[in-house]
Amino acid sequence: MDILKQRILQHGVVLSNQTLQLDALINHQVDPALMMELGKEFARRFREERITKVLTIESSGIAIAFATALELGVPLVFARRKKTLTTDGDVWCERVPSFTKGIVTDILVSKSVLSDQDRVLLIDDIIANGDAARGLVRILERAGADLAGVGVLVEKSFQAGARTIREQGIRFESIVTIKSLDNGTVEFE
Ligand code: G4P
Ligand code: NA
Ligand code: NA
Repeated sequence: MDILKQRILQHGVVLSNQTLQLDALINHQVDPALMMELGKEFARRFREERITKVLTIESSGIAIAFATALELGVPLVFARRKKTLTTDGDVWCERVPSFTKGIVTDILVSKSVLSDQDRVLLIDDIIANGDAARGLVRILERAGADLAGVGVLVEKSFQAGARTIREQGIRFESIVTIKSLDNGTVEFE
């Protein structure tokens, strides 16, 4: 999907050799037509997987997850992030560190929107260390739901997230892979 590479080169701001600011494309503004096109691509890749729900985490994953879910004709569930755990027995909860925010948060999914009858496609915008994605995988395990695979728009392959998910035997698909942000330059795989 060269269109996403072009947009990243156009709008991305390399903040460090670890972090690419994508506010104008993903984290603060989105192009709905582009998101629909990319959602169609994920739907095409996972069409045969009998997905019953798409799962993401608020907030920046919601746009691409919505587009994918619309194409697959299934509901979108987005996990909520909370700073403190509300002791509510009706939610699945996992504690995860956040790379960009430097804090620990609890991610929550209500038991009313996820069950052992579900076969789930995880969709997210960017994967770095993979803490959020692994937290969502643990929630699916505890719910007894099947995980069909993980799709992300941008994989940073110099960080461990995507590799650790593939090493768990989980199908992992990304639209673009960034292998380096060294010297202020975005280098794709
Ligand atoms: P991880 O889930 O892969 O471990 O990601 P990590 O916890 O390391 O990062 C947490 C947040 O930082 C995620 O957003 C993730 O998308 C974002 N992030 C990580 N690296 C980059 C990067 O290079 N560029 C940009 N733009 N974002 C990055 P989040 O906490 O879920 O916040 P939100 O964006 O959904 O509000
Ligand atoms: Na994000
Ligand atoms: Na995200």
